[in-house]
Amino acid sequence: MEDVTAKVARQYTDYAYPKPVDDLAASAASGGGDYSDPSLFGPMLWPEGQPRPDLDILVAGCGTQQAAMIAFGNPSARVVGVDLSDASLGHQRYLRDKHALTNLELHQGDLREVGSLNRKFDLVVSTGVLHHMANPGEGLAALRDVLKPDGAMALMVYGSAGRRGVYPLQDAFRRMGLDQSPASVAVVRDYLDALPRDHSARVYVARTSELKHDTAIVDTFLHPQDQAYSVPELLDWIETAGLQFQTWLQNHLYYPEALVPDPVLSRIQMLPERDQWAVVEAWGELLGVHLFVARHAGHAALIDFEGNDWLSYKPRLLVGTRIEAVQPDGSATLRLHDIHFAVSPAEHGVLLAADGARTISEILSGGAFSAFPRADLEAFARLSFSRFWRIGVVMFEGVPAPAKGE
Ligand SMILES: C[S@@+](CC[C@H](N)C(=O)[O-])C[C@H]1O[C@@H](n2cnc3c(N)ncnc32)[C@H](O)[C@@H]1O
Repeated sequence: MEDVTAKVARQYTDYAYPKPVDDLAASAASGGGDYSDPSLFGPMLWPEGQPRPDLDILVAGCGTQQAAMIAFGNPSARVVGVDLSDASLGHQRYLRDKHALTNLELHQGDLREVGSLNRKFDLVVSTGVLHHMANPGEGLAALRDVLKPDGAMALMVYGSAGRRGVYPLQDAFRRMGLDQSPASVAVVRDYLDALPRDHSARVYVARTSELKHDTAIVDTFLHPQDQAYSVPELLDWIETAGLQFQTWLQNHLYYPEALVPDPVLSRIQMLPERDQWAVVEAWGELLGVHLFVARHAGHAALIDFEGNDWLSYKPRLLVGTRIEAVQPDGSATLRLHDIHFAVSPAEHGVLLAADGARTISEILSGGAFSAFPRADLEAFARLSFSRFWRIGVVMFEGVPAPAKGE
């Protein structure tokens, strides 16, 4: 019988993923951005500061464009893309030639064999890949082994809570004898259209716009191999591999403040952090993917508002967050995707000063803030910046370096 890797390779040869873009400059200008791109989200990867200016980056399972996109956005980095599918790599080659990306190297192969390149990387990116392996832990271990001691991994694997409508249908389609042919894709579309109105797969389909493309129908419903994780399963998986969880890349989906109303909100806030994430996951059933950063064990730089280190953090707005609807009294609305947060005039003031260069302490010493008692200011800033972190609208640099060793 054909093994899983061969089936996965065949799928991504027949249906290269994602639907490729033609021009990287146009794609970058259209916004959004890849959470694993250090030029956009570097402080989430290395809150202690980027380890060196000329990064070595591995994009494992790079698909049709991700390695080219990261090479384009990070011209001083050396980027290596690896993928099973030559069809996907073909599009990356097209983008490499079109944009003269001399810093991009592409290899066809299995990421489990990445050690044979004899290279170590500052950043290992692998999004949407490990959950398609027969043994995802084996893939994770191979990536860990090529990560430098101060390196960061930006990973994405499926979340079970948000995909709970998908798996019974995958099973149903297998029983119906569907393959990955265009005729089978048409049967899947008919089946989805005929689902009862309150079926959980309908919710999934409604919030997954890429399902208009056949590639995404195959990737979601006709995939030969996929596995999804709950928050506790994911944290276990990372730690079993000798890695340490550093942060989610979309905090607003894990901490309760952005989503959950009172009185449930305050009950969840009383829990240890990891339980808060698990409870929010169960509450919203929103997490179809988990995007996160992992480091070698003992090397994660953790954001923490206990003690006084946070006064030396250098905050800046997370890419994609906007300050809108400023009122005459200085209050405003923060917008992240389709979520809106009201901010007071004082919170708006600290956010305007959050330029990534000044520490929180320096922000509090400047301008209108200097007129207030220091203790009151620090209490306000601690509450405000921890909320901004938890609702996923800021990132920080200047976080103390993790312990050296290993
Ligand atoms: C869903 S796509 C994701 C592409 C890209 N990472 C992105 O986020 O746009 C998964 C890709 O991983 C590749 N892949 C799956 N298993 C792999 C393996 N064991 N080694 C290398 N590539 C693999 C597939 O060929 C496919 O191109």
